[in-house]
Amino acid sequence: MTPRPAPRDWDAATYDRVSDPQFEWGLEVLERLPPRGDETVLDAGCGSGRVTRALLERLPHGRVIAVDAAPAMVAVAREALGDRAEVIEADLVELELAEPVDAVFSSAVFHWVLDHDRLFERVHAALRPGGRLVAQCGGEGNVERFLEAASEAAAEPPFVRTSSAGRGRGTSRHPRRRPPASSGGASRTCGVGSSPDAPGRPIPART
Ligand SMILES: C[S@@+](CC[C@H](N)C(=O)[O-])C[C@H]1O[C@@H](n2cnc3c(N)ncnc32)[C@H](O)[C@@H]1O
Repeated sequence: MTPRPAPRDWDAATYDRVSDPQFEWGLEVLERLPPRGDETVLDAGCGSGRVTRALLERLPHGRVIAVDAAPAMVAVAREALGDRAEVIEADLVELELAEPVDAVFSSAVFHWVLDHDRLFERVHAALRPGGRLVAQCGGEGNVERFLEAASEAAAEPPFVRTSSAGRGRGTSRHPRRRPPASSGGASRTCGVGSSPDAPGRPIPART
């Protein structure tokens, strides 16, 4: 079996300070998870806990289990959330919860996880039958328009290379990176269906 790369640690204090965009995206995802208020919800990849706090506000009689693999993120989240949430340091692809949850919420995380089959298997295992997954992540096509614009700009002066070494106009086109794999197949295979109220709206990748 190919060894899985360990998730990296983060500069959690800086992330907490500069993560306004992720916070806004997280609030949008929360809009798709209107909890009754008494459920147990897993925040998969809680980071420094900013969005987790907003999730907690929507669960006055419920519980939040917040999981993240980065020790620094877990430390900051624990500090921020206190005893209002159970914060667990764990890799999502190894996730084992003592009790199944009513819903899994995740924002700006799944594109960091390379093994989506295993990820969605673990997410499915964490959910009670009929439980819901509401998530957002970067994916194929998210930055398509940006890459096209960058390629076009790179083909024009002053960016285009015109040296006599034969690298003529247009050869400085932005090398296309392989897009992250779509998670649609993996989530379907693991029995986590796509939500009708979760349109595949493009969002920025690598957050
Ligand atoms: C961009 S941050 C998002 C944090 C938070 N959800 C937010 O919206 O602010 C991505 C988080 O995913 C976590 N992460 C990445 N891969 C992970 C994995 N395999 N298991 C658990 N957490 C992971 C990182 O440690 C990081 O805290």
